Amino acid sequence: MFIGEAEALASFLETAAEIAREAGTLLNNYLERRVAFELKGEFDLVTEADRASERLIVERLRSHFPTHAIVAEEGGGQEGSSDYRWYVDPLDGTTNFAHAFPAFNVTMALERGGELIAGVVFDPLRDEMFTAEAGAGAYLNSRRIHVSKTARIQDSLVATGFPSRKRHENVNVHFYYQLAMLSHGVRRAGSAALDLAYVACGRLDAFWEFGLNPWDMAAGVLLVREAGGVCSDMRGGPLDLRGPHVLVDNGVLHQPILQLFGEIFAGQYRFAMPEMRS
Ligand code: IPD
Ligand code: CA
Ligand code: CA
Repeated sequence: MFIGEAEALASFLETAAEIAREAGTLLNNYLERRVAFELKGEFDLVTEADRASERLIVERLRSHFPTHAIVAEEGGGQEGSSDYRWYVDPLDGTTNFAHAFPAFNVTMALERGGELIAGVVFDPLRDEMFTAEAGAGAYLNSRRIHVSKTARIQDSLVATGFPSRKRHENVNVHFYYQLAMLSHGVRRAGSAALDLAYVACGRLDAFWEFGLNPWDMAAGVLLVREAGGVCSDMRGGPLDLRGPHVLVDNGVLHQPILQLFGEIFAGQYRFAMPEMRS
């Protein structure tokens, strides 16, 4: 690190956290008014709150960092002339939000030369601010967080998600069922960035999903790494934010889960689905 780099990094993170807090307050205000939703795809929802939150975030990022690129889910980003790129999900958990189900967040991450260097996940309902800086750890409301120490799948609480897009192509139900049979339970709360943040702070032991986008997971992935966890794809290859799937866990569970996933990918199931009985 060059002199001043640590300070620059800390100030990126501080700015991102401030912006996420402001966007979170905006979302809470919209939530009270129960906004209408529209469909982007057959089941893929978007609300005025997604757009307003994105406008606010992009405007703030632009004024602080005019040369940085911004990739934002609702398309309001910008090209950049520097090495820096922000990933912005202005409302992660839109379906929950549209139904007033209390699990959603604002998430942003900063990449430099392809490396994630800062990330924020803010849950405005619980006032929980998760932050991570490359090499400087992960935090929840400024207190250091770590992944769990759970050593066996049989003792774990895990989570997954099912994207709204291309549901008929999603094979995750097989993974869901095997883990549901083996673990203490599989949560499916509908907010991927929160799931990742919960792995980072040990509330969950592992999370996996097919078909996420970089803005869903960039900040959460950095949180998990900085909290001592491990991230890869579901076959054990290096994680690609644009790849088909992601697995994050506390590190101890990585090999046992990959072993199980390898079997499922090969069509070998430890537990057969139950027969339907009337
Ligand atoms: C979605 C949520 C959900 C996950 C989907 C994402 P959005 O993000 O993170 O948990 O299962 O894959 O698309 O659309 O609400 O920002
Ligand atoms: Ca999302
Ligand atoms: Ca979103």
